[in-house]
Amino acid sequence: MATNRIYILDTTLRDGEQTPGVNLNVPEKVNIAQQLEILGVDIIEAGFANASEGDFQAVVDVARALKTAATCSLARCNEADVKAAHQAVRFAKKPRIHTFIATSDIHMQYKLKMSPETVLQRIENSVKLACTVCDEVQFSPEDASRTDKDFLRRVLETAIEAGAKIVNLPDTVGYSTVREFGALIKYIKENVNGIDDVVLGVHCHDDLGLAVANSLEAVLQGARQVECTVNGMGERAGNAALEEIVMGLYVRKDYYGCETGINTKEIHRTSKMVAGYTNAEPSPGKAIIGANAFLHESGIHQHGVLNNRATYEVMKAEDLGMVGQGMVLGKLSGKHAFIDRAEALGYRLDKEELDIAFIKFKDLADRKRLVTDRDIEALLGGEISEVPEIYHLVSFQAYTSNVLKATATLTMMREGVAYTETAVGNGAIDAALLAVDKISGMELELLKYRVKAASEGRDAIAEVNMRVGYDDRVASGRGISPDVVEASVLSYIAGLNRLISDQYF
Ligand code: KIV
Ligand code: ZN
Repeated sequence: MATNRIYILDTTLRDGEQTPGVNLNVPEKVNIAQQLEILGVDIIEAGFANASEGDFQAVVDVARALKTAATCSLARCNEADVKAAHQAVRFAKKPRIHTFIATSDIHMQYKLKMSPETVLQRIENSVKLACTVCDEVQFSPEDASRTDKDFLRRVLETAIEAGAKIVNLPDTVGYSTVREFGALIKYIKENVNGIDDVVLGVHCHDDLGLAVANSLEAVLQGARQVECTVNGMGERAGNAALEEIVMGLYVRKDYYGCETGINTKEIHRTSKMVAGYTNAEPSPGKAIIGANAFLHESGIHQHGVLNNRATYEVMKAEDLGMVGQGMVLGKLSGKHAFIDRAEALGYRLDKEELDIAFIKFKDLADRKRLVTDRDIEALLGGEISEVPEIYHLVSFQAYTSNVLKATATLTMMREGVAYTETAVGNGAIDAALLAVDKISGMELELLKYRVKAASEGRDAIAEVNMRVGYDDRVASGRGISPDVVEASVLSYIAGLNRLISDQYF
């Protein structure tokens, strides 16, 4: 095991899912986990098995699906959590149990209401128990960066003696400065007995915007596992962003002298997939994967880039798997040309997926003169998987004006029967969604609506992501079409289908 190899633990499915408003279902989590594996992530924290039935099932299904990456479940330091984590990860080729307990004074006093000695006892008992059922046990002292240093030393020694193979230091509330965090790692490396026999990890939050900087400083000081999330998702201000950590180490290998097992060419695609499933688009200015990351506005910059991209770009967009605008397809393009383009963009489709995708492509090409790479990405990317087609849209018409209310007439099919309804609304989208409600007999609450141009030009594909609610349940849907009303209807129907599918419950 090379000492300059940095292990990437991705916690998008656990800490990332704690992003306010984000809720992933089990098939989405499995799809993301499989993409993370293709990306080259070493360990995937798939959930917190004892938190809910859904979390448990997600860990089980991810564990079953992964071939090379380790599957990890979080567990508090108690018997029930450790046992649930074991029950869930035992299906994995490489299972890991991640135990944690808070160790800062403020957390022990106000949250746990436990004495430091009790906390130490809990750590010993839980790590030992986890080690009886799982080879790879990780321990994290929550709020490590605000924990008394000498107590932290005792905490880590207790975990290591009890059998933990990985100890991980979280900056849980994103409080640490870069220098402090580096000094903490150094202190741990120099003072904790047994630390050189285990992997030392870090887990940084971004409350003060330092999550990535703190993680990279920790690497310089000897940390060899970094926990992160795709697009920096996570509780409050989020976690350290995987793409920033990985590209920091990749671009500045001269400085850090370390490498990861990540295939950087999968970063763009993974980011898009996560943004699509979570309905959480990174801001345009976000490093590495933001829409502006490779755009040059000022004339001086453009001039430099045209002569040599390295004048203003420290990495190549191609290294992230962003393929430049290549061949443009149209309605006469055949299946081979479509497969070629899809593969160049990094999509691996099996025969069945390909047949479906090609039908969608033909449909699009009939309506749009030129089909660009961005159109194909919109067509294939971020698809919310396994949305059962309980209802499907057959046709719609919408009439709108600035003097009268809009009217929409819609035909939808369910189990071979066509239903048609007309509704009047405040604008064509409102009218069309009301017509869907009339057909389904379910008045959905529209919790979130996001529309963007997924490609370029006046006939760009509109991509609509919605979150809809019914009773106390919520579901997401995505729809794409060159027509924004149709994209909205498709997104709404996808959400509706999820809400009423058995699989959802
Ligand atoms: O932020 C944190 O402290 C955590 C731990 C559970 C690792 O997420
Ligand atoms: Zn966290």
